[in-house]
Amino acid sequence: MNSTRPHLMIAGCGYVGRRLAKLLSQRFDVTALVRTASSASELSTEGIRSMVLDLDRVRMNTSIPERLDQEAIIYLVPPPSFGESDLRLDRFLQLASVPPKCFVYMSTTGVYGDNGGALVDESAPVNPRTDRARRRVTAEEMTRVWCTERRVRRVVLRAPGIYGPGRLPVERLRRGDAIVREEEAGISNRIHVDDLVSACIAAVMNPEARGVYNVTDGNSISSSTFLRTLAELAGIHAPPQVSMVEAQLTFSMDRLSFLNESRRVSNERMLKHLGVTLKYPDYVEGIRASLKE
Ligand SMILES: NC(=O)c1ccc[n+]([C@@H]2O[C@H](COP(=O)([O-])OP(=O)(O)OC[C@H]3O[C@@H](n4cnc5c(N)ncnc54)[C@H](OP(=O)(O)O)[C@@H]3O)[C@@H](O)[C@H]2O)c1
Repeated sequence: MNSTRPHLMIAGCGYVGRRLAKLLSQRFDVTALVRTASSASELSTEGIRSMVLDLDRVRMNTSIPERLDQEAIIYLVPPPSFGESDLRLDRFLQLASVPPKCFVYMSTTGVYGDNGGALVDESAPVNPRTDRARRRVTAEEMTRVWCTERRVRRVVLRAPGIYGPGRLPVERLRRGDAIVREEEAGISNRIHVDDLVSACIAAVMNPEARGVYNVTDGNSISSSTFLRTLAELAGIHAPPQVSMVEAQLTFSMDRLSFLNESRRVSNERMLKHLGVTLKYPDYVEGIRASLKE
């Protein structure tokens, strides 16, 4: 710990947060907030200071460690899996009594709903079709109100599917799980975790960054194309392809909720205004690097 450095909190320090914390620790005095003691102990072995707070069970006397020089809060805790609101975020915002200079909220591109394969940028209206997406819309709005009232610079990063080392559905493909025929599958979007981490850092470091940014790699392809490519690069048999009608009968509701939405998400604002240079604009290279690590 170096207390002369400005303080930064990462609320929700899992897959994305850990990679982010390692890089940000070079400039900031980082505290990570996690739900479980086991995650806290893993973080401490990586040299990342953490505190345990379950935002589903906040007590009367709970507080979070804050300093007056709080540079940023990067909020990566997913919303609960029920309801139309994000009570975790609501509780967190009530506890955060010292406004940081910047609040970064990780949202999803699911807030746009189904666009029939059309291109969407940040000016497109939100049109959530699932409770999961409705919770995100509510959460984005909560951060808008909280940040406006406290004059905090707010950045919302709308992420699509996140992939990277250890986050590729290789086991599913080995099991022989089917995919939807490529010609029938809708368009979806992804980002490599390292590029998402770069977007989080740019959100904190670029004083001009504010508002909403889509954070995607710019490859709008179907999940079937992505999975077929992954199988090829991982040396696994090509997955069997089924029709969309068959998929509706056999795939899980969760998987279908993604497959039933189709959109091309523009990353122009992320590139030009947020100032992110993508390491993996090519998903084939992104998969290759992820399989190697
Ligand atoms: N996966 C995707 O493709 C995708 C796409 C778009 C957006 N996102 C969003 O991006 C964000 C980061 O994703 P990720 O993959 O890094 O998530 P992750 O690996 O699941 O990490 C989530 C973190 O939040 C903490 N957390 C969960 N519930 C909590 C609670 N009740 N109170 C306090 N902390 C809690 C977890 O603590 P423990 O480790 O102790 O459990 C963990 O540190 C999430 O909001 C996610 O929903 C994900």
